[in-house]
Amino acid sequence: MPATVVVGGFYGDEGKGKIVGYLSIADNVDIGVRGGVGPNAGHTVVVDGKEFKVRQVPSAFVNKKSLLLIGPGVLINPEVLFNEIKITETEGRLYLDKNCGIIEKKHIELDSSDAHLKGTIGTTGTGTGPANAERVLRKLKIAKDLPELQKYLADVPEMLNDALASGKKILIEGTQGTFLSLWHTDCYPFCTSKDTTASAICSDVGLGPKNVDEVIVVFKSYVTRVGEGPLENEHTEEEAKKLGTFEIATVTGRKRRSAPFNFKLAKRAVMLNSATQLAITKLDVLFPQASGVREYEKLPKEAKEFIEKIENELKVPVTLIGTGKETKDVIDMRKEKL
Ligand code: IMP
Ligand code: MG
Repeated sequence: MPATVVVGGFYGDEGKGKIVGYLSIADNVDIGVRGGVGPNAGHTVVVDGKEFKVRQVPSAFVNKKSLLLIGPGVLINPEVLFNEIKITETEGRLYLDKNCGIIEKKHIELDSSDAHLKGTIGTTGTGTGPANAERVLRKLKIAKDLPELQKYLADVPEMLNDALASGKKILIEGTQGTFLSLWHTDCYPFCTSKDTTASAICSDVGLGPKNVDEVIVVFKSYVTRVGEGPLENEHTEEEAKKLGTFEIATVTGRKRRSAPFNFKLAKRAVMLNSATQLAITKLDVLFPQASGVREYEKLPKEAKEFIEKIENELKVPVTLIGTGKETKDVIDMRKEKL
């Protein structure tokens, strides 16, 4: 803080929603702002046993005092947005930038039928790729063109920069993961339709590189990937089920493929994002005895060794560790390590 950006270090689904939800409460952030591609990303946040899956609303909604913003780089599906505002009860404290691009039915239809997009790449079918393509052609509608969005419109970059100038705390939420980036993927064309690294997320919301203090890269304790494209050391479905790494995707309901933690990719993610801190999520999946633990000393020995190995190899402190689904299931070592 004051401005912290949170991004994914693998292929999305690292648990960014949980970490952002935790930070929004722990640091009592003034503003939670979402960057990233659009409603192709589903972030899961669990508060007091209640599970929310948000694709547009910033995960900081769990702090009822935070102002919620969506940056101009983010695509909006108005139907998804309105529904989430209702579910998260955020009417009156959520605004989006007037320049956000708008996803229409035709984009969704193309994304979920096209042989290349749906078939070869295995997109989420949410229309984000076709909408971004149209945006590049400068034919896409933007938020200020839609009468039903008028009451939510704001100048998000200006609000953020003014807030920083008056000493407020801003939490910037990235989506997808480093290796789904259109520029930095390890396997083009199996990637999303934009850059997803920390620099891009800051650009999405209108904050310049000198205005961000902390870059938190989130890694899950193992790697997962949905859709097509290579995945090193991929587990068979049977192995994944035995290990507990088998998951179902938030947005599409597809099976997630899984693999062990990948140090080579993680090192590159640290480099590409200029990470200042690391968050490791779902440690309880690899080490069931870590479940719900909120103090580092109480972790099982093997779990501590795993965390130490990550720090030794990546040379960045692990400051946050997720040990369960609840927003509060986090070991927070920022005071000791920073
Ligand atoms: P698109 O972003 O829907 O065009 O999909 C392109 C690729 O990125 C596909 O492999 C998707 O499964 C993947 N993808 C996009 N967004 C996410 C996400 O939030 N989590 C995980 N995978 C994603
Ligand atoms: Mg997800």
